[in-house]
Amino acid sequence: MNPLVAYFSATGTTAKAAKALANAVGVELYEIKPAVPYTSADLDWRNADSRSSVEMKDAHSRPALADTDAPVAEHDVIFLGFPVWWYVAPTILNTFLEAYDFSGKTIVLFATSGGSGLGKSASGLQASAPGAKIVDGRMLNGRLDEAELKAWAEGLKL
Ligand SMILES: Cc1cc2nc3c(=O)[nH]c(=O)nc-3n(C[C@H](O)[C@H](O)[C@H](O)COP(=O)(O)O)c2cc1C
Repeated sequence: MNPLVAYFSATGTTAKAAKALANAVGVELYEIKPAVPYTSADLDWRNADSRSSVEMKDAHSRPALADTDAPVAEHDVIFLGFPVWWYVAPTILNTFLEAYDFSGKTIVLFATSGGSGLGKSASGLQASAPGAKIVDGRMLNGRLDEAELKAWAEGLKL
């Protein structure tokens, strides 16, 4: 396999996990950046009017990307990482999937969170990449052991 690790991270936790995974597997890393970065006020889940709350209440919201330079075409397997927001993937992941052709590719989800799992993330993303096979990978919370991550990724037999 020649995977790509692509991730979105608002506050750096998923970025750390993605870097550990890319290092462990020895592959390319791409950051999914929003055109307009999220401020801490944007991320306030206690405020029903914050940007993240408004976006996550609208399944059709598609926050704009800063670029569409991800080397998706060169990879058949994409590890796709994000912070869990309201039990699923942030809608910028839908924007990302809709910006490229993922037909025939396998997308393995990973995430960080305050405790939730991947939940229904995969089904929320599938419509945005209809030709792709999206599979639940794992949560990457807490201390990450690169040898263990490598063994996990290789064990997927992709
Ligand atoms: C808007 C918002 C919603 C969140 N919703 C959840 C959730 O449903 N379950 C959970 O365990 N953590 C939730 N979290 C916590 C994040 O998933 C967690 O802090 C994550 O590691 C942040 O990753 P990042 O630093 O890469 O952005 C939420 C955080 C934000 C900002």
